[in-house]
Amino acid sequence: GRPLSGRLYGGDDRRLLLTLANQGAVAIRNALAVEQLRNWNRDLEAKVEARTQELRRTQAQLVHREKMASVGQFVAGIAHELNNPLNFIQGNLYHLREYVGTLTKAIEEYDALVRSGGEAERSAAEIDALRERLELELILGDLTDVFEGCREGLDRSTRLVKDLRTFSRLDQPDLSLVDLNDAIESTINLLRSKLIGIRVEKDYGDVPPVECIGGQLNQVFMNLIANAADALEEREGGTIRVSTRRAGEDHVRIEVADDGPGIDPELVSKIFDPFFTTKEVGKGTGLGLSISYAIVQRHGGTLEVENRPDGGCCFAMEIRIASADE
Ligand SMILES: Nc1ncnc2c1ncn2[C@@H]1O[C@H](COP(=O)(O)OP(=O)(O)O)[C@@H](O)[C@H]1O
Ligand SMILES: [Mg+2]
Repeated sequence: GRPLSGRLYGGDDRRLLLTLANQGAVAIRNALAVEQLRNWNRDLEAKVEARTQELRRTQAQLVHREKMASVGQFVAGIAHELNNPLNFIQGNLYHLREYVGTLTKAIEEYDALVRSGGEAERSAAEIDALRERLELELILGDLTDVFEGCREGLDRSTRLVKDLRTFSRLDQPDLSLVDLNDAIESTINLLRSKLIGIRVEKDYGDVPPVECIGGQLNQVFMNLIANAADALEEREGGTIRVSTRRAGEDHVRIEVADDGPGIDPELVSKIFDPFFTTKEVGKGTGLGLSISYAIVQRHGGTLEVENRPDGGCCFAMEIRIASADE
């Protein structure tokens, strides 16, 4: 048709048309490119998502592996701790059975003597002989000790079980109010076999119960104290000092310090990295501190380390008294 102006199409029109066509083509190409970009983007997002999932899985596995490694060490310690009092009870029960046997026999013989009648002097002499023969004095004197031994063995086993319960907090997997001094005390008791020959100074302050996942915080205490014990392993008479105190309105500060060799200043920035360890293979996993760091962070807290001027190092954590996610 004719243009609206009524004029015939001229060279200008052709040029205009050409330009429009070109621009149309560019627009179409752009649209295609955008579409392709979108697709790529979608692919990329899917890949990132898959990779993130994979990382999360790996991380969970690592956390689990560290747990199993410390559980292994730990179980050995507990077996040792439990073995002592149980041996105690077993040994005492053996004596108890012997004694009860003898006492039963004594009663039977007394009985026979009484029934046989006879002169009073004869009976008294026979009774004396009987007491002598069956070592009744000895047995009666020993019985109290035997019972005491059993009781102490049972007490120790009961205390160990209580510490284990406090430590694992299996009954409280979620946030709950925890007495940190109690928790630390239990952890130290459970690490006893690892702490032989090390002085442990406890400076428990008057701190309010903290809202936290008890089992997780115990894992942190365990890592810090076990690391301190490892650091002191080669030293005679090292000291670990554990303290708790209130820090400001909202926080509690817990410090675990030792007088071991401290940390090489060049390595300080690395010790919280997963897998960083200076311990020999099979001894260290290098995960304790990185996991501890994550746990403390999850509780709205901080975990720091510093070498002490007089040797050794001090790990200090501060956590919120009220849960962070409120
Ligand atoms: N109290 C400490 N004294 C000296 N070095 C320490 C102490 N605590 C931690 N470290 C250093 O930090 C490293 C990482 O600790 P951690 O993450 O618990 O892993 P692991 O104990 O398995 O080596 C240790 O290998 C050690 O070199
Ligand atoms: Mg460790």
